[in-house]
Amino acid sequence: MTPSCHPASSHGTAQQHPRTSAASEDWWRSAVVYQVYIRSFADGNGDGIGDIAGLQDRLPYLVELGVDALWLNPWYPSPMADGGYDVSDYRAIDPMFGTLEEAESMMKEAHGLGLKVFLDIVPNHTSDQHHWFREALAAGPGSTARDRYVFRAGRGSGGSLPPNNWRSGFGGPAWVRVTEPDGTPGQWYLHLFAPEQPDLNWDNAEVRREFEAVLRFWFDMGVDGIRIDVAHGLVKEEGLPDLGHSDIERIGMAADGGHPHWDREGVHAIFRGWRAIANSYDEPRVFVAEAWMGAPDRLARYVRPDELHTAFNFDYLTAPWRADRLREAIDNNLKAFGAVGAPTTWVLSNHDVARHVSRYGRPQPDEPVRALSDFLKDKPFDLELGTRRARAAALLTLALPGGAYIYQGEELGLWEIEDLPEELLQDPTWKRSGGTDRGRDGCRVPIPWSGDCPPFGYSPPAVTTEPWLPQPTEWKKLTVQAQSGDEKSVLELYRKALHLRRAHPALGDGTMTWDSTAQEEVLSFTREPGFRCVVNLSEHQIALPDHTEVILSSAPVHGRRLQSDTAIWLTR
Ligand code: GLC
Ligand code: CA
Repeated sequence: MTPSCHPASSHGTAQQHPRTSAASEDWWRSAVVYQVYIRSFADGNGDGIGDIAGLQDRLPYLVELGVDALWLNPWYPSPMADGGYDVSDYRAIDPMFGTLEEAESMMKEAHGLGLKVFLDIVPNHTSDQHHWFREALAAGPGSTARDRYVFRAGRGSGGSLPPNNWRSGFGGPAWVRVTEPDGTPGQWYLHLFAPEQPDLNWDNAEVRREFEAVLRFWFDMGVDGIRIDVAHGLVKEEGLPDLGHSDIERIGMAADGGHPHWDREGVHAIFRGWRAIANSYDEPRVFVAEAWMGAPDRLARYVRPDELHTAFNFDYLTAPWRADRLREAIDNNLKAFGAVGAPTTWVLSNHDVARHVSRYGRPQPDEPVRALSDFLKDKPFDLELGTRRARAAALLTLALPGGAYIYQGEELGLWEIEDLPEELLQDPTWKRSGGTDRGRDGCRVPIPWSGDCPPFGYSPPAVTTEPWLPQPTEWKKLTVQAQSGDEKSVLELYRKALHLRRAHPALGDGTMTWDSTAQEEVLSFTREPGFRCVVNLSEHQIALPDHTEVILSSAPVHGRRLQSDTAIWLTR
């Protein structure tokens, strides 16, 4: 640490002022949920890894920010082959994050502060270190232990080829051949993700019962909601047929229900059962589906009245910063979700995609973007432009009808770290792609809280253990402490927007109407009573429509003109 460093803490206390609807049963229809990537949020014990103690200490920050709930990425015991999405015990906490007692205490405090808590459940696969999988390996072909997973004989002479041509989401084939207990080369097991994440067999009744019990375990502890990881992947087509050419091309997406392992009809019965469990509580629990779909009406089928409550709107997340594309994503999703009576949840970033400052700060393609390697390769990055657009995007997002998700650090204007040292990269994508795709670590770098140099208050003062991923020194300007009270900061923009959103009767759940007179590269809409949002995505300034008051703008407004890449909230 250099002498110029003054790590200091800046988290105070704050009071939650719940909007009336937050107390009602359908609070989730308009909730703003803050995603806590726990490993990178705040490190309470000084080992360089975020944990429950660190999170509990910072809960007042979330209250002050003005969110309604937090969603925690998996905190279960895990060998961390895929950042905790390889779970070895669904009813415990990884010691790296803390204990069950700490988890309960954190949740109690969150509830006391008026915050709801969502966990993340991973039902498509377990860790290869889960006792079920170890049992399956030991028990051999044809055993009940193997039937909990997807084991098959190989093809070709001696079964030396994978059972089919399915691909792992992280690159390479989706099958691994095991050595049988007698030492001979044996069956293959399916892993749609890393080899350390064997897929479960959802045709197996014990698998179904187990996950229902796991849901009850956490709901009984007071968890308010659950995010369902890879909700569209659980059920596989009987016979596990090969993928057709077009399926291989668009891995991860499904458009029509005809894909052999994504979006199979059978998943819906599972979720109807889960909904009944959630409804059995006095304060009904809620679900959000993570399901990457090819079409909004397919996604809307997951949020029919007797199924899940909400689903992430990834069409909006992946849309380039272009009025036509955003408008299309907004319209299509509102229409599809409206048809089944579900609210839409708007999301700009998460732990799987490049931070949107870095996506928007480049010349925009026509195509959807998740990673910078998608259509943005070698395109120059303009931080100022990306930040300006991200500020405008925040006001757009929080003005749209429904709920919203904020990924930790987006409220600070953090950008993607594109030059992490290769030897530190942990995302399995890096190795599985043969070092061609850097994966998702660049959006998972620990949060800067205070002080002048790393770890920026992320770890307790005087700790010398470095954060598990290094923070850039430039983040000095983006710490919570540096931005607090600075009217121009991204953090203060989010704080204002969130507090206004909570108080304004037109915002949250409801409807919107596009202004028919707005020019092509402008998104302009009204909501009742008396609210208008205008976002200028053109390269030119535009005239502001008539209004009685400016509520908030993402950049200074002079003389009734709205500059390029600026959003404004108006009272009509
Ligand atoms: C989801 C998670 C991602 C994980 C994958 C496999 O997409 O968000 O982080 O790698 O599922 O569990
Ligand atoms: Ca720690």
